[in-house]
Amino acid sequence: MLKTIGVVTPGGDAPGMNAAIRAVTRIAHSRKLQVLGFERGWDGLLTNTYKRLTPRTVGGIIQLGGTMLHTLRCPEFEKAEGVELAAETLELNEVNGLVVIGGDGSFRGALELGRESDTLMVGIPATIDNDVFGTDETVGFDTAVNTAVAAIDKIRDTAISHERVFIVEVMGRKRGFLALEVGIAIGAEVILIPERECKATQIVDVIRENAHKGKRAGIIVAAEGIGDTSKLAKAIAKKTGFEVRLSILGYAQRGGSPTARSRLLASLFAEKAVDLLCEEQGSSLVGLQNGTIASIDLKKSCETQKPLDLRLLKLAEMLAI
Ligand code: F6P
Repeated sequence: MLKTIGVVTPGGDAPGMNAAIRAVTRIAHSRKLQVLGFERGWDGLLTNTYKRLTPRTVGGIIQLGGTMLHTLRCPEFEKAEGVELAAETLELNEVNGLVVIGGDGSFRGALELGRESDTLMVGIPATIDNDVFGTDETVGFDTAVNTAVAAIDKIRDTAISHERVFIVEVMGRKRGFLALEVGIAIGAEVILIPERECKATQIVDVIRENAHKGKRAGIIVAAEGIGDTSKLAKAIAKKTGFEVRLSILGYAQRGGSPTARSRLLASLFAEKAVDLLCEEQGSSLVGLQNGTIASIDLKKSCETQKPLDLRLLKLAEMLAI
C-alpha cells in the first residue's frame, strides 16, 4: 500500500518547481501520505539526504523561482552503481512512489531507476525548454517566455534609437520552442531555430529589404542551439554595414517568480502525479494534451522527439513585413 512518496528535482531549475513541490506535498498529505523531499537532485538519493515535507514546510514558496530542494548535475548517478545505491535508498526509506520534477534528462534517470527499483516513478515536466514529448507545455516555459519578452522589449528601445540590429540569444538547449514563441511575441524580424536552417545570406537579405522599406532597426531572436551567435553577429555587420549587437539573455530566463500559468500548471500536474501513484500507475509522465491534464508512458516520452510547429515560423515571417 502506498504510504510514502519522494520528490526530487534533478535537472536545471525552472520557475514553478516550488509550486509543484508544494502541491505534491499538500495533495499527498490530504491522501494521508507522507512526503520526503530528496535534496540536490539524484545526489540526495545517493547520500540519503532528504527533508520531510509537510503542508507547513512548503508554505510561502509558491511564488519563488528555483527549487527549494536544490539541484546538482550528478555524474555518479549515471553509473550502474549509482542507480543501485539510489534504489537502496528508496527501499531503506520505504518510498513507494517517486515524483521526478524536471526535463528529459531527469526522466531518463527516472527510467533507469525504475528498472532497478520497485518504487513507482511519475514525472512532472518542468523545464524552460518546453522540449518534453507528451505535454504541450512544461512548467516554467510560460515564465521564461514572459521574462525574455520583457527583456527584449527593453532592448528594442535601444535598437530603434540607435538604428541597430540586435541578435538576442535565448536558451532552449538543442530546441527552438522558446525562441519561436518569444520571437513571435516580440515581433522579431527574424527567428533562428535549430529545426530550420537559415543561412547568413538570407538574414542579410531581410535586413537589406527592411532598410529599403525604411526599417532601420531589427531584432533577431536566436535559439542557443543554432551555434555561435557571436560569429553570426560579426558576419551580418560586415555584410550589411549595420551596427549589429549581440545580447545573450542566459540564466535570467531560468529564474524569477513563476507566472500564474506556470503555478497553475504545476499544481494541476502535481494533482495528476499523486493520483497516478495512488492508482499504482508508475513509469508515467503527466502532461497537458489539448487542454486536458493527461499522462503518457515515461519510456515513450524519453524515446520520442517533441515536434515543433514550424507553421509558427511562417506566421512570424508574415508578421515581420
Ligand atoms: O534545460 C534548461 C537549460 O537552461 C537549457 O536551456 C540550457 O541549455 C541548459 O539548461 C544549461 O544548463 P546548465 O545549467 O547545466 O548550464
